[in-house]
Amino acid sequence: MKLLQLTAQITLCLLFTSNRATATCPQVVSRADWDARAPVSSQTIPSLPVPYVVIHHTYLPGFCNTSQACEAAMRSMQNYHQNTQKWTDIGYNFCIGGTGQVYEGRGWDIVGTHAPNYNNRSIGICFIGDFRAELPTLEMLATAKSLIECGVERNSTSPDYKLLGHSQVRSTECPGTALLNEIKTWPHWDSLNKTNT
Ligand SMILES: *[C@@H]1O[C@H](CO)[C@@H](O)[C@H](O)[C@H]1NC(C)=O
Ligand SMILES: *[C@@H]1O[C@H](CO)[C@@H](O)[C@H](O)[C@H]1NC(C)=O
Ligand SMILES: *[C@@H]1O[C@H](CO)[C@@H](O)[C@H](O)[C@H]1NC(C)=O
Ligand SMILES: *[C@@H]1O[C@H](CO)[C@@H](O)[C@H](O)[C@H]1NC(C)=O
Ligand SMILES: [Zn+2]
Repeated sequence: MKLLQLTAQITLCLLFTSNRATATCPQVVSRADWDARAPVSSQTIPSLPVPYVVIHHTYLPGFCNTSQACEAAMRSMQNYHQNTQKWTDIGYNFCIGGTGQVYEGRGWDIVGTHAPNYNNRSIGICFIGDFRAELPTLEMLATAKSLIECGVERNSTSPDYKLLGHSQVRSTECPGTALLNEIKTWPHWDSLNKTNT
């Protein structure tokens, strides 16, 4: 059933999109749709396309699988990032909920706060949930791949991008062992480990 829906969506997308460049771009739940607060300020990514994609899990908030719960998760992250961390906005460029829905964070053009030293040259994508022991749903994984490909097609991400887990650039459990092992099998994963240095 899910697969049929997905196939139908992709077919519609191809039918109504004359510009092939956006053919694989997944639908994105906009900031307005999840009732985001305004960013305190924002900085445009200085140089496009960016050479890195950095994968995260949220750990908390936990897994969500309804739009209501995932939108609430986005708002709770934004509140935490703005109020407690004193960041200008939710840290990530995009997040992915349990049904495979993409939620807009800072989007393609704005520098995130998710991976020190990489923020201004990467797109940070978070999987909502704790993926230390369990994998994200198949829908989440498929959507993440198409979102990454979409970045390349719209020239936001370099065709030679390197795919990294957060723990490869900073000492952290994020994105969780299970999810890190999964992305190690994806195209463009790079074995860089900056926590060594
Ligand atoms: C949705 O997530 C909740 C909380 O993790 C879980 O109890 C429930 O079984 C999930 N439902 C589906 C359809 O995946
Ligand atoms: C990105 O930020 C770093 C500081 O974290 C800075 O040294 C570097 O010049 C910036 N890169 C670009 C392309 O602006
Ligand atoms: C991306 O860049 C390529 C090569 O410069 C160009 O042909 C294409 O139209 C650009 N795509 C978009 C969506 O801007
Ligand atoms: C990177 O290297 C450190 C030190 O050897 C190690 O503890 C850590 O697990 C490595 N990180 C990854 C993501 O492989
Ligand atoms: Zn992270």
